[in-house]
Amino acid sequence: MITLDSVTKVYPDGTTAVQDLSLTIPAGDVAVLVGPSGCGKTTTMRMINRLVDPTSGRVIVAGRDTATVDPVQLRRSIGYVIQQVGLFGHQTVRRNVATVPILLGWRADRIRRRVDDLLDLVGLPPETYGDRYPHQLSGGQRQRVGVARALAIDPPILLMDEPFGAVDPIERARLQQEMRQLLIDGDTTVVLVTHDIDEAVRLGDRIAVMGPTGHLEQFASPLEVLGRPATPFVADFVGSDRLVRLLGVTAIDVRRLQPLHPDDGSAPQLPMAATLREVLAAILSSDSGRVRIGDAGVLTMAGVRETVQAAIAGA
Ligand SMILES: Nc1ncnc2c1ncn2[C@@H]1O[C@H](COP(=O)(O)OP(=O)(O)OP(=O)(O)O)[C@@H](O)[C@H]1O
Ligand SMILES: [Mg+2]
Repeated sequence: MITLDSVTKVYPDGTTAVQDLSLTIPAGDVAVLVGPSGCGKTTTMRMINRLVDPTSGRVIVAGRDTATVDPVQLRRSIGYVIQQVGLFGHQTVRRNVATVPILLGWRADRIRRRVDDLLDLVGLPPETYGDRYPHQLSGGQRQRVGVARALAIDPPILLMDEPFGAVDPIERARLQQEMRQLLIDGDTTVVLVTHDIDEAVRLGDRIAVMGPTGHLEQFASPLEVLGRPATPFVADFVGSDRLVRLLGVTAIDVRRLQPLHPDDGSAPQLPMAATLREVLAAILSSDSGRVRIGDAGVLTMAGVRETVQAAIAGA
């Protein structure tokens, strides 16, 4: 668990980067920080692993006030993907990913296996990329090496500052999917910064929206942030199409299904596990405006709208 308790950061030149920020991230959860450039997201992350010390307030990680923990010790248990990647330029991809396992004295064969598995995971086959140097990679590939490095020892806490910013949309979606799987299965507590609100909605258990002056506007589930923005700033930040984004994380509700008609046999069909976004896409391409959900019934545009509105009302 990570707790920020009334944390404020004023840099020596007088810039207030973070103002009276309080939030708690339960163990195993993914919290996503979003907000405009310069609102204090990176500063907030760096206060968790003590690369930046708060001016006031407390940061509590795994039950201990981090001000009392040796920073080097603290950082060994916290994987960190920095915004500018920060690979070691004179070391190969494999050696970069192996940094922390080597520090911890893992055996060579264990390191090798772990590193190769991670490179496969981030879509960089080790036989092709393992012996290259960072300057022989594209920007997006370097970012993926940064992600693999942060995951190397399967740390209990993972801080990721725009980890997929330079990755193309297709590879990005694949990585988000892999990441989701890892995060759902694992008990890692994650703080992720992104400018991509859809990424926030897809990966976050909770989203922290920070306002322009370094304070917290809303900290809530994706459903709440999109469905019930707490302030005009949040509403504006998530965009006027926020309810369309919400479709991507809203499940089908059996109570909104209509009975099957005899001629629904030719309607497009989706499984119960589909999201409303997939249903909407199918409705738009269907002549009848009806989409069959297995043998359970049919969804129409009206059913999609009712489901979204009920989800918001229940949030
Ligand atoms: N070392 C520093 N000294 C003085 N001001 C700083 C320092 N580092 C950051 N700042 C300022 O603090 C504010 C917050 O910066 P921070 O890097 O946390 O923003 P951010 O939300 O991560 O922005 P971005 O989305 O652009 O990465 C900005 O106004 C920035 O100029
Ligand atoms: Mg930043």
